[in-house]
Order: sequence, then structure tokens, then C-alpha cells
Amino acid sequence: MLADEMRACTRCAELAATRTQVVVGSGPSDARLVVVGEAPGAVEDETGTPFVGRSGQLLDRLLAEAGLSRTDVAVINTVKCRPPGNRVPSRAETANCRPWTTRQLEELRPSLVVTLGLSASSWFLGKTTLGAVRGIVHEVDGRRVLPTYHPAAALRGGPRGEAMTRLREDLALAVRLVS
Ligand code: URA
Ligand code: SF4
Repeated sequence: MLADEMRACTRCAELAATRTQVVVGSGPSDARLVVVGEAPGAVEDETGTPFVGRSGQLLDRLLAEAGLSRTDVAVINTVKCRPPGNRVPSRAETANCRPWTTRQLEELRPSLVVTLGLSASSWFLGKTTLGAVRGIVHEVDGRRVLPTYHPAAALRGGPRGEAMTRLREDLALAVRLVS
């Protein structure tokens, strides 16, 4: 099984040595919506489930507001192992993990992918800025991809709570598109 193969992966020597476990993903295998984040944080590394810390709780709340339960959504990260100190994953780590993510997407066959933050958005769209691509449905390799802000950015606040407002709008659009 793909998940078992992933759990045994040691392609990134540092991450394989420092992780508690590989965070494969969560949610139903027939989910219409797949949410893609960057990499596990401390709570995810401990529990083995993506987006269960503060960012995850915000994600769950905004999805619920839009009318979709988190349990109906599949959630994965572009990098499956926690980078020490939550540093941004290196290009090499993202490249190492890319084939796993590709296989997950092939198995999941979502109707829509929502990417949270620049890392996940660039995974699909290449080098870009979030401001240029967010809130718009892009077609990438026959897949619909809707980039938005990372919940961590929304939690940090910023000018007039812009990231929170946009994240809420974009998740509401995502729910409409898969309903
Ligand atoms: N941030 C992410 O990008 N992914 C997680 O799983 C948790 C926090
Ligand atoms: Fe393997 Fe991905 Fe973990 Fe790197 S981050 S060790 S490629 S599962």
C-alpha cells in the first residue's frame, strides 16, 4: 500500500532521523476536495495527522462555516515529515517527496485541490506569488487547483485581517465548487 511505502521512506536523511513519524494524510479516499499544505508541525508529527494544531483548527472551523465537515475532506502536505524547528522545507526535500504527493493525487482523483500558502501553491503552479494566483481556479495537468492563504498567515493577522478574509472566501468558493 502507498501509505506503508511512505511510512518507510528515508529519502530525506535529516527529516527521517528527526521525525516522530511520517504524516501520510487524513480523510476519505473518495473525497471530492483535497487540501494541500506545506509540512507537518509539532502536533502533526506527534499525532501522525495533518493540520491538527492551531492552523488545522482554523481550517476545520472555516470549512464548517462554509458547510463542509473536515471529515469529508482529504488533507495532505507536499512534504510528509516535520522539518526541525518548523523551518521551511528545502527544495531537495520538496523534490524528494514530490513523487509521493503525485501518487496520492493519482489515487485520490479529487474534483478540486485547494493549496494553502505559497509552498503548496508553487508545487502545482511553479514559482509565483500568492497575490497573483489566489482565489482563482487554475487547471494544472487536468486538475482544478484553487490556491489560497495558509491558515498560519491568517492567524498572524496582518493588514486589516486580509489573509483571514480571503482564506474564508476562498474556502467558501471551494465548498461551492465541490457541492
Ligand atoms: N501546516 C501545514 O502546512 N501542514 C500541517 O499539517 C500543519 C501545519
Ligand atoms: Fe520521504 Fe517525504 Fe519524509 Fe522526505 S519528507 S523522508 S521524501 S516521506
